[in-house]
Amino acid sequence: MAVKQTDSLAGQVDMTRLPRHIAIIMDGNGRWATRRGLPRTAGHKAGAETFRRIATYCKNIGVQYLTVYAFSTENWKRSADEVGAIMALLKKYMEEAVETMERDNIRLHFFGDMTPIAPELRALARETDEITEHLSADAFQANVCLNYGGRDEILRAVRQFAADCAAGKRKPEELDEALFSGYLDSRNIPDPDLIIRPSGELRLSNFLLWQCAYSEFYFTDALWPDFDEAELNRAIVAFQARDRRFGGVKK
Ligand code: IPE
Ligand code: IPE
Ligand code: MG
Repeated sequence: MAVKQTDSLAGQVDMTRLPRHIAIIMDGNGRWATRRGLPRTAGHKAGAETFRRIATYCKNIGVQYLTVYAFSTENWKRSADEVGAIMALLKKYMEEAVETMERDNIRLHFFGDMTPIAPELRALARETDEITEHLSADAFQANVCLNYGGRDEILRAVRQFAADCAAGKRKPEELDEALFSGYLDSRNIPDPDLIIRPSGELRLSNFLLWQCAYSEFYFTDALWPDFDEAELNRAIVAFQARDRRFGGVKK
């Protein structure tokens, strides 16, 4: 596939060895806005644009899955104004997605507990899920983590497995890693190869705790609204220089 070279770094990316699944903690929106004397919500708006841009770039170069952390189970601690602004941006994105995902061949899926989410957003998520079902399984897929927490995801999976055992559908001794993975929001999706966190913070903040077991991590000081194709290329180049051993010994 012909790839538009967005800068010289694109030339250093080995397009034949791309990470199949990239996950990003979209952090630094608030600081980006504060540094410009703007309200934090302006940072979230700019961050939403960055997401559109990076998702398009991932799709164009041939990354198959992009999972982004949009709102955590802990983010409800923020002001009602800020939470409302983030939810409004998500709604706008979902409405756009319903209109364009079929045309652009983009699968869209949500991770997280949707129960406390506003009914209109839940309905939109159901719509995007239905459209996704009709799209080819090998089309580019974006996963948006909304009211997502890694611990919460594991607890929801455990509760469901326990309920299936109580109903006689499963036996505790059957449980292995593959079966358990099938109870998670990420079922049927390979674990992320590369997890990127912008904004200079060196922590996971409850992101993909089960799935990150053998992910490569990449941290950058760039704030999410400033993150661009060149930053992503840099992260991929770093990823491609890593030696992934998965506990084995190099032959
Ligand atoms: C990430 O940016 C977006 C969300 C957590 C919803 P932040 O809002 O956390 O930005 P900083 O970390 O305060 O700069
Ligand atoms: C993580 O960022 C969650 C999202 C990016 C959605 P936070 O800004 O909430 O994380 P902490 O508070 O710095 O750990
Ligand atoms: Mg933050």
